Amino acid sequence: MRSILILNGPNLNLLGTRQPEVYGHETLEMVENACMAHAQKSGVIATCLQSNHEGVLLDAIHAARGVHAGIVLNAGAYTHTSIALMDAIFSVEIPTVEVHLSNIHAREDFRHTSYIARAALGQICGFGSQGYIMAMDALMQKFAQLEGAS
Ligand code: DQA
Repeated sequence: MRSILILNGPNLNLLGTRQPEVYGHETLEMVENACMAHAQKSGVIATCLQSNHEGVLLDAIHAARGVHAGIVLNAGAYTHTSIALMDAIFSVEIPTVEVHLSNIHAREDFRHTSYIARAALGQICGFGSQGYIMAMDALMQKFAQLEGAS
């Protein structure tokens, strides 16, 4: 069965209490449970990981090679700073969809730049936690395309 890594970066462990007017009232546990339920319904496996540390996120992306068929990545503020995370996604060649709860393009200028977007299949932002489900669906469509092509 195909597996999708749901990877969340810094401060996303605080979801539910962190600026709920921006990020919503759902906790990370609720978001992850919704992803796992969607995976089960769709016949894939979802594995969830959150870290506040860039190196741990890098290690998780490296370790995903040969294990996960796709990655849903909300890199939090590292989105706007981390060339290392971008390079990791390019290096492992695992289809990755970038997700943000908020619409980063409608916010401060420094959030308009995403290094992740350069390496990702695409970006979903502004749809709250539903964005994770949309990203999983996008990956599953990609898997089907790849399977059809082989
Ligand atoms: C975020 C947007 C980032 O700009 C911010 O630093 C976050 C959360 C989002 O999900 O909307 O931590 O990635």
